[in-house]
Parts: sequence; C-alpha cells; structure tokens
Amino acid sequence: MSASRPFILVLHGPNLNALGSREPAIYGADTLLSIDASLRARAATLGCDVLCVQSASEAVLVDAVLDAGRWADGVVINPGALTHTSVALRDAVLAAGVPVVECHLSHTDRREAFRRRSWLGPACVGRVQGFGATSYLLALEGLVAHLARAHQGGR
Ligand code: DQA
Repeated sequence: MSASRPFILVLHGPNLNALGSREPAIYGADTLLSIDASLRARAATLGCDVLCVQSASEAVLVDAVLDAGRWADGVVINPGALTHTSVALRDAVLAAGVPVVECHLSHTDRREAFRRRSWLGPACVGRVQGFGATSYLLALEGLVAHLARAHQGGR
C-alpha cells in the first residue's frame, strides 16, 4: 500500500450503468453517477483516492482487476450478473495480488437461487450486500480499514 494515501479501483459490472431506472424496487433510485460522487466524497474523508469504471464486458473487467495489481492498493467490485457466472473474474481476483471487496446493492442471498452463488466471493477479503448504494460506501470503508491493518503488519 502506498505510504499514506491508498488508491482504490471501483468496478461496476453489466447493467449497473442503468441504475436509477433499472428495477428501482430492487436496486434503488440512485444513479451510478450519484453513487460514484458519494464514493469520491467518502474517499476524501477516508484519505484515499478512487477511480470508478463501469463496463458490461467481462474481458474489460478481468483486465482491469489484473491490471489493478500493478497500480492500485485494492479493488471494490460489483460484478453484477458476472458474480454468478464468471470463473475468469474469480481467477483475476486471485491473481491480482491486491485485496478485493465484492459488493452488491441487493441482498443476493435472499433472491433467486442462481444469485446465491458467487464465484468471486471466496477469493475476496470481504463482501457487502443488501444496503443499496450504501453497500459501496461500506465496502470502501472496509477495504481501507483492511489496508491500514495490513500496512501495520496485522491481518
Ligand atoms: C447485483 C446483483 C446481481 O445478482 C445482479 O445481476 C446485478 C446487480 C447487485 O448489486 O445487487 O446486476 O450485483
């Protein structure tokens, strides 16, 4: 981790660019733009920097996670539906060499059976779900605390 100011990559997967109008009863009314703005605001109070990227492409997300190992201190990712299908993303998380936190707006364990399996989950240092847009802020906070502990030689 960089000495004092961690750099966090935030990745949003497929269909998350439609937040605001996409099934608001499940995902809430916040747009991705407003979520990214609140992440930047929270990052400022936590003393870190965030770069937020959205893509519907599994390949782009895999490359971004792998590449994060070269320049970022950690990753927050909402992989969207790729959570439940992508072994390639799981392998990228395992290969990245930086901690990754999985996050979801909805409580995936309480939804359809196919959403209960996360391929990435076991490869991540933590997982936040079910708190709407707040899930992202909790994931960022948890990751920054994890990095601080690791920096101090803890676990
Ligand atoms: C989601 C949950 C996924 O099951 C779904 O495919 C999404 C959004 C969430 O944030 O709740 O696209 O990742």
